[in-house]
Amino acid sequence: MFFKKKVNDEIDYDNLPRHIGIIMDGNGRWAKKRGLPRNAGHKAGSDAIKKIVRAANAMGVEYMTAYAFSTENWKRPKEEVDALMDLLLTYLKDAERLMHEDNMRLRMIGSPKELSPEIQEQIIKVEELTKNNDGILWNIAINYGGREEIANSAKRIAEDVQNGIINPEDITADTVEKHLYTAGQPDVDLLIRTSGEMRLSNFMLWQVSYAEFWYTDKLWPDFTEDDLKRAIIDFQNRGRRFGGV
Ligand code: FPP
Repeated sequence: MFFKKKVNDEIDYDNLPRHIGIIMDGNGRWAKKRGLPRNAGHKAGSDAIKKIVRAANAMGVEYMTAYAFSTENWKRPKEEVDALMDLLLTYLKDAERLMHEDNMRLRMIGSPKELSPEIQEQIIKVEELTKNNDGILWNIAINYGGREEIANSAKRIAEDVQNGIINPEDITADTVEKHLYTAGQPDVDLLIRTSGEMRLSNFMLWQVSYAEFWYTDKLWPDFTEDDLKRAIIDFQNRGRRFGGV
């Protein structure tokens, strides 16, 4: 006899994904649909992520990473890049108070050196201020690229080999992991992408190896706490085998 797997329609708070990755896509289309400039979409997108991180923290999710600016996003028109950088700075200034009040930690992942000195300083300030909080750890990916992250890890391992700290034969997947921006954090369990696109776009290539993907046609600024809950419930109804049976 064939029994259908029981499908839960409420969140099981004892079985939350530990790490949720988000590719926030569709800001431009959201704005276009409303006859607004693209930058208005990014502003609405930054309001959405603020709410989602707070909601995830309140649920008890331990880690969240969202793609705010990729290494490829510099190719956008200067006006859009400038607007995104302004939004990030404003967000990071707000984060100083908001993150700390909610007991959340902020960490930037990506290469900081191409960012303005003001943004770099603000990142260090918020990271420092929130480092002892024990709520969600919220990685904001800025000037981030998954391939660059793995290449950087390889570079640092090569330096360790050169300095006699490690033998090449002792290099394992664990060694690579220890040199990623997210060293010590669990892999991504659930990866959410909005706007109907089904691409990784160079996001956390190492950390999503066993992630469950969840897509929605909703554009990022329309994504709500209920959508996050839906994604988590779907995740909890899937059977994860990690290569086993
Ligand atoms: C993709 O939409 C989104 C981005 C490239 C940037 C994401 C940035 C934000 C949500 C705002 C800044 C974030 C913070 C944390 C302040 P798109 O522009 O590619 O949309 P489209 O595909 O519809 O054109």
